[in-house]
Amino acid sequence: MSDAIRVTRTTTKREKPKDKDLSFGNVFTDHMFVVDFQEEKGWYDPRVEPYGPLSLDPATAVLHYGQSLFEGLKAFRGKDGRIRLFRPDKHVRRLNRTAERMCIPALDPELVLKSWTTVVDVDRDWVPSAGGTSLYIRPTIIASEAFLGVRPAKEYLYYVILSPVGAYYPEGMNPVRIKVIDKYVRAVPGGLGEAKTAANYAASLYAAEEAKHEGFTQVLWLDGVHRKYIEEVGTMNIMLKIGDEVITPPLNGSLLAGVTRDSVLALTREWGLYVSERLVSIDEVVDAADKGTLREVWGTGTAAVISPVGELVYKDRKIVVNGGRIGELTQRLYDTIVDIQYGTVADTRGWTLEV
Ligand code: COI
Repeated sequence: MSDAIRVTRTTTKREKPKDKDLSFGNVFTDHMFVVDFQEEKGWYDPRVEPYGPLSLDPATAVLHYGQSLFEGLKAFRGKDGRIRLFRPDKHVRRLNRTAERMCIPALDPELVLKSWTTVVDVDRDWVPSAGGTSLYIRPTIIASEAFLGVRPAKEYLYYVILSPVGAYYPEGMNPVRIKVIDKYVRAVPGGLGEAKTAANYAASLYAAEEAKHEGFTQVLWLDGVHRKYIEEVGTMNIMLKIGDEVITPPLNGSLLAGVTRDSVLALTREWGLYVSERLVSIDEVVDAADKGTLREVWGTGTAAVISPVGELVYKDRKIVVNGGRIGELTQRLYDTIVDIQYGTVADTRGWTLEV
């Protein structure tokens, strides 16, 4: 697709919150990027428009059968004033992998990247600068055809919205309390667990609410077949350090291939640590806690970056991890990734893209 990108600027600028007031995902910028798809035209008319409501027919397919996808990445403003995206190429590839799984027509990877750099550039004044803040980029595709039959739609809407954000969890980098659940399942291999699509997150809400009412921040999901192997924590990938081994579950089709997960694996391998992508049963975790070898547990994700787990409750067993404090490796990973994201240290891995 070679259409030029049209830019229509807003005439009514929205009010920007102060950096110190930012939480997650409740403020949006002045503009959004939009591209349409029709079967006979392909993806067409890429443009920047003022941010505003979508007008959808009540029969729009996505509202009924959830044919959709989204991505989430961030733009950071460094102390040098420069704005950098973190590993956008990985997000582009994952967007198209999800598109394939959801029967959504693929987008030109160059257009996707261009849509992110263009809209961030148009709204660059919205990228906050305080530590821990960033501009969250939310690309989304919805099946926009008004049709009630169950089949892939013939019309789609791609849009990208931007939200200046602070910490994802109110706890920030403080260790969170997690309930291990075996009553509900989120995904199974062959299902949608590895796709960044709405249904995956809808499936997680009930269990998370139940856990929150009991005073937990999130749940630790076990695999959907045996209800035995740990899979994800809330909406994040899970990692542990047992003895000297850094462990995370393998990408077996039911968990998301997180970009932060990949970054942590790259860093820990670079640092020469003993790193395994392997199945870990909840019994192994309990056993390690009993033996005193469960050193650290943390979640990885774009929104929170690294989130230390201070406590795990499984049935009637409570496991306090590292005395409820942030582990040494957890902190090192957070500091290293954040330093790369803000350009505080040189990006020697080609992970950032300046806008
Ligand atoms: C993440 O970035 O870790 C997430 O998956 C959360 C997002 C869906 C808000």
